Amino acid sequence: MRLNLQLLALTLCLNTTAVMAQNDLNPNLFLYSPGPGDGLHAARLTENGWQHIGRLCSSDYGTWGAEKKMYHPSVTQAKDGTWRLVFQVNDHSPQIAVAYSRDLVNWRPQDYPIMSVKPCEKPVVFENEDGTFDIYFRSPKGKRWVSATTDFRKFAADEPSLIDDDAWLRDTATVGGRLYEGNAFTASADFVGRLQQHFDQSGRDWQKTNERMHDDGKRFASLTQPIQATLTVDLAHQKTISDKLIGIFFEDISYAADGGLYAELVQNRDFEYTPRDHRGWNSTTAWHSASPIEIATEHPLHPNNPHYALLRQDTLWNEGWDGIAVEKGKKYDFSMFVFADGQKQDFLVMLIGQDGTVIAKTKLKTRGSEWQQFQAVLTAKATDAKARLAIVPQKAVRVGVDMISLFPQETFKNRKNGLRKDLAETIARLRPKFVRFPGGCMSHGQGLDNIYHWQHTVGPLQARKPDFNIWHYHQTRGLGFYEYFQFCEDIGAEPLPVLAAGVPCQNSAANKEGIGGQQGGIPMSDMPAYIQELLDLIEWANGDPAASKWAKMRAEAGHPEPFHLKYIGIGNEDIISTVFEERYEMICKAIRAKYPEIRICGTVGPFHAPSADYQEGWDYTKKHPDLQFMTDEHYYESTGWFLHNRNYYDNYDRQAAKVYLGEWAASTRTKRPNVETALAEALYLTDIERNGDVVHMTSYAPMLCKDGHSNWNPDMIYFSNTEVRPTMAYEVQRLFGNYGGDRYVRSTISSSKPDLNYRLGASVVKDTKSGATYVKLVNALPVSVSLTVDGLSLSGAQGERFSGKPEDAKAECLPVTLDGAVTLPAYSFTVVKL
Ligand code: AHR
Repeated sequence: MRLNLQLLALTLCLNTTAVMAQNDLNPNLFLYSPGPGDGLHAARLTENGWQHIGRLCSSDYGTWGAEKKMYHPSVTQAKDGTWRLVFQVNDHSPQIAVAYSRDLVNWRPQDYPIMSVKPCEKPVVFENEDGTFDIYFRSPKGKRWVSATTDFRKFAADEPSLIDDDAWLRDTATVGGRLYEGNAFTASADFVGRLQQHFDQSGRDWQKTNERMHDDGKRFASLTQPIQATLTVDLAHQKTISDKLIGIFFEDISYAADGGLYAELVQNRDFEYTPRDHRGWNSTTAWHSASPIEIATEHPLHPNNPHYALLRQDTLWNEGWDGIAVEKGKKYDFSMFVFADGQKQDFLVMLIGQDGTVIAKTKLKTRGSEWQQFQAVLTAKATDAKARLAIVPQKAVRVGVDMISLFPQETFKNRKNGLRKDLAETIARLRPKFVRFPGGCMSHGQGLDNIYHWQHTVGPLQARKPDFNIWHYHQTRGLGFYEYFQFCEDIGAEPLPVLAAGVPCQNSAANKEGIGGQQGGIPMSDMPAYIQELLDLIEWANGDPAASKWAKMRAEAGHPEPFHLKYIGIGNEDIISTVFEERYEMICKAIRAKYPEIRICGTVGPFHAPSADYQEGWDYTKKHPDLQFMTDEHYYESTGWFLHNRNYYDNYDRQAAKVYLGEWAASTRTKRPNVETALAEALYLTDIERNGDVVHMTSYAPMLCKDGHSNWNPDMIYFSNTEVRPTMAYEVQRLFGNYGGDRYVRSTISSSKPDLNYRLGASVVKDTKSGATYVKLVNALPVSVSLTVDGLSLSGAQGERFSGKPEDAKAECLPVTLDGAVTLPAYSFTVVKL
């Protein structure tokens, strides 16, 4: 019965869509794809034939590079005027891609319904008389299938269809000299005109986005003299703003955790490296010995840590993370689990310098029949940036060894299993008001199996569950949730854990079944357990050890007092698909019901407006005001974009959820922070302070990057084993972090040349706790600005300033005292306290 109805419906639809195009004398809009990587494009009919208008949308399916392809797009315009798109995603997945739009400009984020066959070839979409839709596709042997949908979000299980070849008839048009297949439509001149205008405007915006200070010589050729400007301060007009505007984003990317902030000096201490971490890696990576290292799993130290090494008499060497940096006179804690099976074994444990000299040496006597931890202290007799660890068995006895660890005794706040002192202190100097962790993409992971489960990262180190890192290396989880929370407490910052919304990263590769993207999300049957895991986190952080097993765990780890968790982030710049929304809502409702005091942070995708996820994310957020306190926006943009979008938050709805600008950075083509990016960020942050009633938090991203292990640029702080190099982005964050307030005083800065105002910024904030007033002044022009200040006296105000050439990677931040006449040097940022 159903098949007949479908056939009938199809005939009707062909009459309204394809036939409309074929019979109409003048279809004027053609939708097509120039190639699989190019997405869906539009062309309009002109006197000179079909002219390209622009790209409407592109595939968001699967991994970057290998996937993100759109094959055989099929579009229909529904009776309600909306546009429905389906396309094939690849030649191996049991999924089709679907999306819809009201105007061909703004698209709802794509969904990838899972079908019973793979691949789903050449999907075509038709609207039925009753307003529902049928999507037909083929399997490789030519069999036809159909799936039905009423709302274009939920799709019925597919079933065989008898539809004939006519369903796949397509229109053709020659655009730019090439013949394409696609769908032709007759649209009103007004509609096509608006589409054209949209793309014309995008082109103009694109030019502004490309503005670079390094071309200022040409841009401001006639600007040779200092200009006058006035800062008008209206002390009578103040508003409360967030006192948490500046925080940090911590993600284990570019070796930020293992080999970075986490002070462990031994690489692959648990012998758990695998090729999943990185091609070519295995249990012996970073270890060396004269003969092949024997790895066993029969008698594991812990089920989560199954591999260990079997040692006889050969020396076992560890190369550390690009070597082990040791300093003369400093002490290092060595520890190792040994399974001696009742035998006695002694070891010499040494640090060997690059020239082969012994820098430190100690003896370890090991006895016992079960796994047991043995410890010793090494004192360095010399400084060496690239020492190695040597473990020398003293007898030809076979013993198992695991969790071989070396920590500097001097860690941040001298904590055991602690953080690298110099790096942590550099971070602490930012005075961040919150710490977001553990990511980024690390939080939602590469595929369902790699979603970050916080409970795998607490407890004894040997019981933590290592995993591969989405950034192509290994996570020991030695830096786990306990350590993150402890760090927050140590630097006086609010913890902001961000965990997956029941979906992995949309850029994930396909799973074993060939399902890519969000891989269909955590199956609904497993969602209760996943939700419980998130509730357990709140209990672990805040609960009473006498009443809760999770809080007891925290107390046993050394922290009986609660961590006072107030915020939790759910989701990380996910595609706001149906799969996402269903799971996100379940999670939020459960948290709200059990812990109404916890402030939930949602997510609105990876880009700013206008973009599909941003739009859908904010629509969802506004429709569910009861669920989230704030939502996380991400955008990495050019300096030009920041210069020309300084009013971005001015018109945000003050009644809606707050904004957490959780990942952002300005960049130029060099992809390294410099004075230009710093000034663009400083200008934008003055605007954010002005909008501190709607923006609750911001964090520059990424924060850390180890030399030689970069996954991403620009970053705020670069480092090696011996050096920490804060960038100009760091200086801006530090200045805003140290000179922040909780009241915004209305103020405007304007110059004698209004066209130049977009390069000037000012912000006046008060800190009601200390009574201080802070004034920030940014001049991103190539000439100095002579500033008149109305409504406030800056005379005698002291603070800090940097200035330089836009391309300078470093400009020193120097103390400054303002006198009566305030001059802002060219390309400078000044902060003073009153
Ligand atoms: O900050 C680096 C990455 O950028 C984050 O992991 C991800 O959320 C974003 O795409």
